[in-house]
Amino acid sequence: MSGATPVGRARADDALHILAVSGSVRAQSKNRALLEAARLLAPPGVRITLDWSLATLPHFNPDLDTLDGHTLPPEAVRWRESVGATDGLLISCPEYAHGIPGVLKNALDWLVSSTSFPGKPVALLGASVMSVYAPAQLRETLTTMNARFVDDASIAIPVSGASASAASIAANPELARMLRGAVQAFVDAIANRG
Ligand SMILES: Cc1cc2nc3c(=O)[nH]c(=O)nc-3n(C[C@H](O)[C@H](O)[C@H](O)COP(=O)(O)O)c2cc1C
Repeated sequence: MSGATPVGRARADDALHILAVSGSVRAQSKNRALLEAARLLAPPGVRITLDWSLATLPHFNPDLDTLDGHTLPPEAVRWRESVGATDGLLISCPEYAHGIPGVLKNALDWLVSSTSFPGKPVALLGASVMSVYAPAQLRETLTTMNARFVDDASIAIPVSGASASAASIAANPELARMLRGAVQAFVDAIANRG
């Protein structure tokens, strides 16, 4: 990893772990492609893992979110554990009807009472520069949840239809430059405050 030292974590490897989550569960999603490209372009010492479990999370229900955790659905337990174990959460999200896609808001609602989420570094990407409401709403929600929102790493990257695969994003010099810069800014923010 250039320009940053991996955060010391008690793990089998020394890599800095970033969990990547797409707010779109569409098979040909540009946001999903962006995260896959980020994985391809990750600097040495950084492992980006993509999490596709959002679509299988049950609807959030506070009745199931009890203090002893016994009533939590297994999918919610696994989701919380994945987020808890990562050094940073990298979200890429579209905008639906000037808002956050329900699938992502649902996943975030399951984290609200999670003890491991407060202080978690979070960066927000988007595959469209047209989306302004969803990023603002996500930022508000995430900061309300006491995430450590990393502004420098949070950008919109204009992925057009022609460049909507991970390989074509990674091969596009301008898109790759923007994506590399965002990931590096996120890594630096995590490492400097880890
Ligand atoms: C139901 C729906 C509502 C949308 N509403 C908006 C919107 O309000 N603003 C916007 O900029 N784009 C909107 N879009 C366009 C999507 O944000 C855009 O297609 C994005 O690329 C989808 O992300 P994906 O390729 O990762 O699935 C909407 C798309 C859908 C399917």
